[in-house]
Amino acid sequence: MAKAKISLVGGGNIGGVLTLIAAQKELGDLVLYDVVEGMPQGKALDISHATPLVDTDTRILGTNDYADTADSDLYIVTAGFPRKPGMSRDDLLAANLEIIKDVSKNIKKYSPNSMVIIVSNPLDVMVWSFKELTGFPRERVVGMAGILDSARFRYFVAERLGVSVQDVVALVLGGHGPTMVPLPRYCSVSGIPLTKLMDQATIDAIVKRVQEAGTEIVGLLKTGSAYFSPAQAAIEMAESIVRDQKRVLPCAAYLEGEYGVSGIYMGVPIQLGASGMEKIIELDLDSDEQAALKKSVEHVRKVIAEVKL
Ligand code: NAI
Ligand code: 2OP
Repeated sequence: MAKAKISLVGGGNIGGVLTLIAAQKELGDLVLYDVVEGMPQGKALDISHATPLVDTDTRILGTNDYADTADSDLYIVTAGFPRKPGMSRDDLLAANLEIIKDVSKNIKKYSPNSMVIIVSNPLDVMVWSFKELTGFPRERVVGMAGILDSARFRYFVAERLGVSVQDVVALVLGGHGPTMVPLPRYCSVSGIPLTKLMDQATIDAIVKRVQEAGTEIVGLLKTGSAYFSPAQAAIEMAESIVRDQKRVLPCAAYLEGEYGVSGIYMGVPIQLGASGMEKIIELDLDSDEQAALKKSVEHVRKVIAEVKL
């Protein structure tokens, strides 16, 4: 991809951090869009003032006009309400669906050939709705959650063992919520299986904490949800697309028979490059893992059944 045009739809907590990291990494020319007047312009100017300090020449435009995003190569969508303590991600469905309808219409109108990374919650249902509303092919529409959930898994393992996070590989499949499926069997420390390094009770406790990590942060912040790590996770996806890195990353992808599932989005390992979702990698799952994934699929289908497009 020549110099990419990347539009960030939603200039709130995640959108602001996304803009900063994308500028630091010089991922492309950036457009920050939000419905709140002045806010995306203010954040764009503030982050622009930081560019001389990190030696990048990234152009950043803040706007309330979708026309400024025209012909973008890539959108990252964080428009939507975050949850507050006591709320599940699914409680955001009605409000965020209306927002995704508006976002879908405008992205289709201004950049019909773009790639899109959806971040807004409830993630698996928002990314499914976006694909349904735009009719974009599945290669061009992916959702961010698995990288974040897997990073949380990696962090908790590294913290517990007192080793570098760099050496921990971990994978989380399924929907982005309490039914997500962390896979200890596919977690290793420099190739050493996790099951050789920790007892089962410790692994179980870490798995539970990964599943509840977003809720733990909401409980601490009280006014919103996590935003630094979600932004960093979405940037991994954006960078792999823009720089055609072909990274293998857990992302929400539209399934057409893979893992025995069709017609929904769910977290699975994919290869992500300049053509978007280039491949879905199918893993061998044991019977417990299959049962956990089935429960997660049923949950995503149940929420999708409530969607009126
Ligand atoms: P935030 O409230 O700080 O920002 C959301 C922004 O969306 C606000 O600035 C708001 O003005 C804007 N917005 C509202 N309606 C819009 C519209 N029609 N068009 C464009 N922008 C609009 O929220 P934050 O923390 O940035 O989170 C954004 C979303 O990401 C939430 O739905 C949250 O639940 C989700 N999330 C997803 C994660 C994941 O792993 N997929 C992780 C963390 C958060
Ligand atoms: C998270 O996992 C709330 O989805 C958000 O932090």
